[in-house]
Amino acid sequence: MSPNSCLNPGSKSGVILRAMVKLARVWITEETLESKIMTDERITSPGPMPSDFALDAAMRPRTLGEVIGQDSVKVNLSILLEAAKKRGEPLDHILFYGPPGLGKTTFAHVIANEMGANIRVTAGPAIERAGDLAAILTNMRKGDILFIDEIHRLGKAVEEILYPAMEDFSLDIVVGKGPGARSIRLKLPRFTVIGATTRLALLSAPLRTRFGVVYRLDFYDLEAMLTIVKRASGLLHIETTESGAMEIARRARGTPRVAIRLLKRVRDYAQVRAGGKITRDVAKQALSLLEVDELGLDEIDRRVLKTVILKFGGGPVGVDTIGAAVSEAPDTITDVVEPYLLQLGFLERTPRGRVATKLAYQHLGIPYPEEENPKRGTLWEDEL
Ligand SMILES: Nc1ncnc2c1ncn2[C@@H]1O[C@H](COP(=O)(O)OP(=O)(O)OP(=O)(O)O)[C@@H](O)[C@H]1O
Ligand SMILES: [Mg+2]
Repeated sequence: MSPNSCLNPGSKSGVILRAMVKLARVWITEETLESKIMTDERITSPGPMPSDFALDAAMRPRTLGEVIGQDSVKVNLSILLEAAKKRGEPLDHILFYGPPGLGKTTFAHVIANEMGANIRVTAGPAIERAGDLAAILTNMRKGDILFIDEIHRLGKAVEEILYPAMEDFSLDIVVGKGPGARSIRLKLPRFTVIGATTRLALLSAPLRTRFGVVYRLDFYDLEAMLTIVKRASGLLHIETTESGAMEIARRARGTPRVAIRLLKRVRDYAQVRAGGKITRDVAKQALSLLEVDELGLDEIDRRVLKTVILKFGGGPVGVDTIGAAVSEAPDTITDVVEPYLLQLGFLERTPRGRVATKLAYQHLGIPYPEEENPKRGTLWEDEL
């Protein structure tokens, strides 16, 4: 073998080298993680912030038994895992969807751990070309799990490689160019794709049908949130009373990531102003200083609701128009602000746009239109 043979594109080692370079590019990198970081620095934002990464990993439950809430997903998943283990087969492909910060990545790691499988982590935007995915797939071993975060952001050409890989565990590669080009089919070992997305509607129908099971993660109820806050307090060695934990749980928008972040901020306040212990009063004072109200709404949520109510007569109004009025990207409204307002029943989706409900008026202390409200629809932006 000549010293340069590994650089020769035709040689076997050259092919391996190129595959390795490609792989290094597509495994998830700081850059792809950063692409997920929400641009706003709201404390209540459910998307990840740079300061969350180390903590996210440390706080993640490792087994199904440690996962709090999401009971129906857990029951179904445990049956799926046990059946696959009994048959000695790799798992079916699994898709998780739901708003950010509810545990999609956590579940993917729990599954790998429970199955004793290797997990490889990448994300839709990181796989730019079909060749990138081919490089990943040819490195999978039997039973491995490929976790594709933000799977709705895969390109068309990449998706087309993924279909046969998920369905028949085969990879079609075109060798050569022009009239001499020929297609060869490689057999892949049986592996499992776990996909995660916050936007199910953006996933193409053919890709969606390749998943044997689809789980929707919902916002957590208050009881689960309380347990999550208590568990996190224990892991972070923070002294928290039951009512202190409850105050944080109530304002965490049904989202574990937000709960953990609020807990950290309240801990700071407790340490500086209250001798380190989180009681109900301490939590209340800290959270009102952070402008997070009793239901977890922050300044942007309130601005969106006030805009719909006061500028657009309660709606219906389109998301783009709301976004323009509050100077936020429409995607931020759809992904971050709206899901929780819908969950609270403060907003409703109609074919003509978003409508504020009576509950929203009541929460903001604005008279509902049935009653006399001369100001409705007549306020200017500087009055909001
Ligand atoms: N059921 C749970 N019990 C306890 N902690 C949880 C649970 N689900 C999520 N968490 C915690 O919440 C944080 C965020 O979870 P995770 O990263 O899995 O969310 P995600 O749905 O993948 O978010 P994104 O859509 O932004 O990728 C992690 O720190 C994790 O430990
Ligand atoms: Mg995630």
